[in-house]
Amino acid sequence: MNLIELKNAVKEYTTGDITVRALNELNLTVKQGEIIVILGESGSGKSTLLNVMGGLDVLTTGEILLEGKPYTNFKDTEMSKLRRQKFGFIFQSYNLLPLLTIYENIIAPCLLDRKHIQRKDVEALSENLGIKEQLDKFPNQLSGGQQQRASIVRALINHPKVIFADEPTGNLDKDTGEQVMTCLIDAVKRESATLVMVTHNEKFASCADRVIRMENGKEIGQI
Ligand SMILES: Nc1ncnc2c1ncn2[C@@H]1O[C@H](COP(=O)(O)OP(=O)(O)OP(=O)(O)O)[C@@H](O)[C@H]1O
Ligand SMILES: [Mg+2]
Repeated sequence: MNLIELKNAVKEYTTGDITVRALNELNLTVKQGEIIVILGESGSGKSTLLNVMGGLDVLTTGEILLEGKPYTNFKDTEMSKLRRQKFGFIFQSYNLLPLLTIYENIIAPCLLDRKHIQRKDVEALSENLGIKEQLDKFPNQLSGGQQQRASIVRALINHPKVIFADEPTGNLDKDTGEQVMTCLIDAVKRESATLVMVTHNEKFASCADRVIRMENGKEIGQI
């Protein structure tokens, strides 16, 4: 069964008299364990696509299914729980809470579900991503690359089915970005997770099982 399926997905944003069609009758399937890279010009609908797949935004028309169930079947509270338990998010800005340590940031989403996470599991994953020594520091004591590694640990700690990453190396210099991207792809493979990632770095398209090119809210071809 497909993990996620979009059928004739349309997303329109209306501001005043102007309506922008960010997704234009898009059809897409994501299978468990795939690494999918989404490429496209600015404004082509990449972030919109990730947001609707991640349940952060709703479609205007069309359908989106998670393991065969329409997202619209889930109530708001069910959807938030599902997001925390099945999805992991990594954004361009790391979104770490400044007043929590790195360790506390990593376990915070799990606390909302009263799910107990063992320190040794956080340490093991952090060691793989090279930030074990940073766990008791605060975000402003870490470099951008280290903060992004922490947000990768946070996204993976709950063993999500899918990780959505929107330009995860967009704020990093080229070398740091490439190191973080390599870590992310290795970690996703090790965890047998699924990755749907927007990136401008064509170099990493070669690590993907599938590359989707977007233009004006539509897919213009797969490689
Ligand atoms: N909240 C919103 N309100 C109104 N219009 C929006 C909103 N979000 C996105 N759009 C519009 O939808 C279109 C697609 O935007 P989107 O953010 O998905 O593009 P993108 O491919 O991620 O671009 P970038 O590479 O610059 O991040 C754009 O025309 C954008 O202006
Ligand atoms: Mg975007």
